Amino acid sequence: LYRSAASPPSTSFLLLGPSGSGKTALFSLLEGKSQRLGQPVRSTHTSQTSTFTTVALPPTVPTASNRYRSINDPSLSDISRNPIKYQLRDTPGHGKLRQTEGIGRLVSMANAKNPKSRARGVIFVVDSAALSDNEALREAATYLHDVLLYLQKRALNKGKSSSKLATEIPVLVAANKQDLFTALPPSSVRNKLEAEIENIRKTRSKGLMDASADSSTGEDDEVLGGDEGQGVFTFQLLQEEVGLKVEVIGGAVQSGSEADTESGVRKWEEWVGMCL
Ligand code: GTP
Ligand code: MG
Repeated sequence: LYRSAASPPSTSFLLLGPSGSGKTALFSLLEGKSQRLGQPVRSTHTSQTSTFTTVALPPTVPTASNRYRSINDPSLSDISRNPIKYQLRDTPGHGKLRQTEGIGRLVSMANAKNPKSRARGVIFVVDSAALSDNEALREAATYLHDVLLYLQKRALNKGKSSSKLATEIPVLVAANKQDLFTALPPSSVRNKLEAEIENIRKTRSKGLMDASADSSTGEDDEVLGGDEGQGVFTFQLLQEEVGLKVEVIGGAVQSGSEADTESGVRKWEEWVGMCL
């Protein structure tokens, strides 16, 4: 069997994250790379609507389905002529637009009937330099918590509904702006987000317990990572308890040279490849 001449985008990824984290910068970079314009990243401004584009995965990035192929495999050159494509949707991170344009998009893309527009993964972009500020950390963690809570509910409901659409949607936390010397390394970004989500989770589960003190409607899936868990929240726990995968990977949309820019987003593209 031969591949047809043009391979249309087969699936979608969604960019979420707080305002100013670099979603639109990443979106424009990947869009530009795909069109081989080689132009520098356009300067961006606060987004107010969500937009989408078609992105080609660089042929040298392995995908889950071709990772075992050797470099001499003729079908690989086939792929470079005919790269694997996906749709990428950029969303505004502003707090006022987050419910409709952020979480709202996630919900509609998670449940899309058309596989082309169905979400295969979420790329949650954070500014690694901003997270040493407590206010910025809380904002990022709250947004991420809400995204993960939705994905958890969806994962736990899968057994109940007969819907075959529900496949797990993994999350990449893209620890952006690693070019800045004030940037926290990805391991600290992970630790800080986990600790802050733990605070949010404690506050919410206490609120739920108070609310359900005289009724027995305590919903287990209302608390991220499960209710009874004595342990503190970690992304590892979420994977073990719910089967939801969260990875934190550092990178930079902007950096000095073209070569750096190439490597700055490479690990994220490899994550995308492993979802395909
Ligand atoms: P909203 O649209 O408001 O949600 O923000 P956004 O996430 O789309 O942020 P945007 O892409 O507009 O980037 C915000 C600022 O961060 C811009 O000035 C970018 O140039 C800058 N920026 C993005 N990525 C990087 C990076 O890797 N390093 C550095 N130093 N700056 C970056
Ligand atoms: Mg934007």
